[in-house]
Amino acid sequence: MKPLGVLVSGYGSNLQAILDACAQGVIAGRVACVISSNPKALAGERAQKAGVPYHVLPKLSAEERDDHITAVLKNHDVQGVCLAGYMRLLTAGFVETWWDRLLNIHPSLLPSFKGLHAQRQAIVAGVKVTGCTVHFVRPAMDEGPIVLQATTPVFEDDTEDSLSQRIHALEHRIYVQALRWYCEDRLIIKNERVFLTP
Ligand code: GAR
Repeated sequence: MKPLGVLVSGYGSNLQAILDACAQGVIAGRVACVISSNPKALAGERAQKAGVPYHVLPKLSAEERDDHITAVLKNHDVQGVCLAGYMRLLTAGFVETWWDRLLNIHPSLLPSFKGLHAQRQAIVAGVKVTGCTVHFVRPAMDEGPIVLQATTPVFEDDTEDSLSQRIHALEHRIYVQALRWYCEDRLIIKNERVFLTP
């Protein structure tokens, strides 16, 4: 079972999907620790309910914070790190330390609509299709080799909320699938493209 660390800041529905998939044996991994940038995150309750060690980050500079995160992850022998709604930018040093072992989920079809409020950006841009992306993390925000994407139409009467709900449901599916492959060591990165080994 590959030990995974999950970084969160809020609601934690992706964390829940990962916890459930590990518990059901869908992912050959286990959540070894959950780290939150937000003491009020509902994700904390989810971690504690699942009996997973839960750490809230103290107030530190970005470098100190990321060093602290790495220390906690190493303390739990983590071999893969999942960003699941973690809303802080990571330092280049942290990304370097976890190179090709750090995954993120983002609520758009990257490289479109990076950053905050990706669903709102999609509605304002008038695109007819959007979705979500699981990718390996690189130092630039919301960039890196893409593992999986899923799409949804954007309806004329969609609000940020209704679109987010559909994207969330897709996120839970593709994050679990991507982690399933990751934990089976089936993801190979060549020239910044991801290939799935048989
Ligand atoms: C998800 O939609 C995720 O894609 C997004 O935050 C939400 C967290 O939901 N992440 C980003 O926008 C990162 N750029 P959750 O707390 O219910 O998993």
